[in-house]
This record gives sequence, C-alpha cells and structure tokens, in this order.
Amino acid sequence: MNATIIGAGVMGLSCGVRLLEAGWRVQVLGRELPPHTTSNVAAAMWYPYKAYPEDKVLGWSATTFAEFVRLHTTTPEAGITMVPVVEPLPTPTADPWWQTAVPDFRRLTAAEIPEGFVDGYFFTTPVIDMSIYMAYLLGRYRALGGTIAQKEVTDLAPYQATADVIINCTGLGARDLVGDTAVYPIRGQIVRVKAPAAQRCLLDDHGRYQVSYIIPRLHDVVLGGTAQENNWDLTVDEGTAADIIRKAQAFEPALAGMEILEHKVGLRPGRPSVRLEREETAAGPLIHNYGHGGAGVTLSWGCAAEVLALVGTL
Ligand code: BEZ
Repeated sequence: MNATIIGAGVMGLSCGVRLLEAGWRVQVLGRELPPHTTSNVAAAMWYPYKAYPEDKVLGWSATTFAEFVRLHTTTPEAGITMVPVVEPLPTPTADPWWQTAVPDFRRLTAAEIPEGFVDGYFFTTPVIDMSIYMAYLLGRYRALGGTIAQKEVTDLAPYQATADVIINCTGLGARDLVGDTAVYPIRGQIVRVKAPAAQRCLLDDHGRYQVSYIIPRLHDVVLGGTAQENNWDLTVDEGTAADIIRKAQAFEPALAGMEILEHKVGLRPGRPSVRLEREETAAGPLIHNYGHGGAGVTLSWGCAAEVLALVGTL
C-alpha cells in the first residue's frame, strides 16, 4: 500500500515515520525540504501555543511530550534537551488547560516571581533544536525506506491516481492546495544568540515583555518573538529585532554580553481549529493534517498517531 504525504515539515515527516513503521510505502513531496521548511525556523519548545481546540490539542500534545522525553533519554542525536521553564503572569491565573500533560508542573513561589508579575508557572519541558531534529527525523524517515522529493503540488489528482491514500500536511499551503481560507499566517520573528549563561526558558505572552520568549537550546538561545496575524512578510524587520533584544535582556539578566548570531522569520499556520480528518473523495481517501498554529512540533507525534489510525490497517 502506497501513501503520498504532501508537506516535508515536522508533521509530514513524523506521519511518514509512523506509516513506514506500520508497513506502508511512503513518499513525501514538499514545496520546501529540510533545512528550508517552516519547521526548521520553529523556536521550538514543547508548548501548545495558538492551537485549538484545547481538548484535542491536550491529547496530541501529551502524546508528543512523552515521545520527546523518550527520545531525550534514548537518542542524543535528536537534539532534544529537558529545560526548566518560568512563565510569570501579570494577574492571578488558574492552572493552564495543558497542565496534565506536564509531569512536574507547579506554581512559581513568591521568591521566583520576577518583578512586575504576581503569579506564574514552573515546569520542565523538552526543547527541540530544529536544525538538529529535522536532520535526525529525515534520516530516520529515509532509513525506514521513505522517499522524499522537492515538488510544489498544486493538483492532487495525479497523486491520487497512484497512491492508496494522500496525507495533506501542507500547513499554510492548504490555502492554495485545498482552498481552505480558514488557514492564515501568524508571523514570528526570532533572534538566535550565543549566551551560555542563559539556562532556563522564560515566557511572557501577557505581561510587560509580551510577546517575549527566551529558549536555550544545545548550542544557542532563541529569542522571540512576534505573533502578527495575517502578516505574510518573510523579511526581517530591524525595529522588531531591536525590540525583541531589548525586552529579552530586561527579562533575562543572564543574556548580558550575548552574541547575536542570526535573525529569522517564519509564518505559523494559524487556524481556528486544527484540521485533522479523513475525507473520502471520488479519487480515494484524503487525510488532512494542518492548521497547527504555533504548536506543530508540540503536536507532531500525537497527530501522526491519529493520522495512522485514520489511514487504517493494511
Ligand atoms: C512560537 O510559536 O513562537 C512559540 C511556541 C511555543 C513556545 C514559544 C514560542
């Protein structure tokens, strides 16, 4: 049985791995291939950011959390570290809806709450260095016998004629491929820096530094960010970069003396809800798996498991 996956980001390759493990023959076709996919630009720590609906996202993200912990333990070449996260909050706030996915979640103590905040969360989360992880994932996919080619697919018909199932993992590309105007860009700009003293993730999506995140990876630190809806601009904005740096240095004193390495922009595939469903078309089954917002990495293994279930057994 043959599967064709459209989209070569983290979602397409994770689905590819699961299908190959289940005995399918798989080809992935991508408009961009690693290292040039949107996934390669992702921050990327486990955190279910701007993905809906919460009940489904909780299940997918919990599955992925467990898989990243397993990879962290067994597979150093995957580029995953477990990093403490401090997320201070400007107002007293209930526990987050995703709390049960995270084993060591707790509230910040009074002494841990940074100035200007009154509440906050602490937890340990997987941080995935996507420049390493995408190469690992592609290698794992190929080692299982999967093929991959650079191709912009604009018409599914020729592929449906030769594959038993098509998996649509095109992210923002679903606007053009299947005419889904509910998918929209949420522009993210980041700065990559060298700052070995920064050892914890800091997040602020609601308070004085918003939108600000500091994510230490194996060899660098990612500073973000922006969440600009319906902004398609892929060029680096210098004013935004200066803003990101100013806020990050005020937020995390350990960034003092940091060295700037690179600026990057990516477009998150926003959607009011993730589209993960099987459509029976006249030409055969078509499984949609897109619209993961800022949580493509965080949902990847959970959604891949559901795609496998939707495909059915051989
Ligand atoms: C992002 O999409 O930029 C993001 C997601 C999760 C944590 C931090 C940043």
